[in-house]
Amino acid sequence: MNIQEIQNEIIRLKREKDFCILAHSYQTNDIIEIADFTGDSYALSRKAKETPQNNVLMCGVRFMAETVKILSPEKNVYLSNPTAGCPMAEQMTKEQIHTVKMKYPDYTIVAYINTTAELKTICDVCVTSSSAVKIVSQLNNNKILFIPDCNLGAFVQAQLPSKNVKLLKGGCPVHASIKAKDVKIAMKAHPNAKLLVHPECRSEVCQKADYVGSTSGILNYAMNSDEKEFIIGTEISIASTLQMQCPDKRFYPLSKQLICENMKATTLMDIYHILKHDEGTVIMLDEKTIAKARMCIDRMIELGG
Ligand code: 13P
Ligand code: SF4
Repeated sequence: MNIQEIQNEIIRLKREKDFCILAHSYQTNDIIEIADFTGDSYALSRKAKETPQNNVLMCGVRFMAETVKILSPEKNVYLSNPTAGCPMAEQMTKEQIHTVKMKYPDYTIVAYINTTAELKTICDVCVTSSSAVKIVSQLNNNKILFIPDCNLGAFVQAQLPSKNVKLLKGGCPVHASIKAKDVKIAMKAHPNAKLLVHPECRSEVCQKADYVGSTSGILNYAMNSDEKEFIIGTEISIASTLQMQCPDKRFYPLSKQLICENMKATTLMDIYHILKHDEGTVIMLDEKTIAKARMCIDRMIELGG
């Protein structure tokens, strides 16, 4: 079968077997084309609550599939590829955060959604890159312990100086690999381009940007802008997606190192095999974990609007 035939078969099978396919914006175009919904982590978690189908296939990384399961425990939730984890989500354990919590009992624990379901059970509220500032600004407590991404936490602190945001050492290895010198090189090569970056990038990178936002934020900014050239400081797929969608504009990846192997683990054939043979990774979480983790995700949705 060629790509078109595989895609047609996936579309037929997902209808026949009552599947909804959700895809994060970092997925490749052949996957985005067959998805029922594509978006950033916040949009995907909202969508997870609304899908009418009994089966949900998440094309992304494990914490995204766990979020769907937490919000729709009655559904069968599949992860597109068993190896697709997010290294940042697994950086901190429940025990470690429990110890920190004992040390700072008066702090509100804000967890980036890129965390395991288990870790979410001891946090107060979740945020995503697109909702973090809005959500933290609405918390009554000014003392915030932000986990695990110190770069996103530092970005929130810079936007909300009245808050006291305590950070731990964690973050995305892909985005954190980009340094100020990479920005200098890219800007020298493309002096007329606007710099758009994800808040998982280091502060030294965010400070130089014309826009800092989530994957959807970057896509929307670039599509709606009258500018013609953009340097894209997030996973390399966003620059390719934009180039396809806006052929009259130019998009340059901030660095060729911006590749998330985990987000790239899923192939069209993985999706085909799950639908055809029901042989994928089904997300299993116990009731107690779901109930506790759900509190901080529900709070995010409530405050995120
Ligand atoms: P978004 O919330 O912007 O989709 O980001 C998810 C992610 O994993 C970025 O690396
Ligand atoms: Fe995780 Fe970074 Fe990959 Fe996003 S880009 S999924 S944060 S490792």
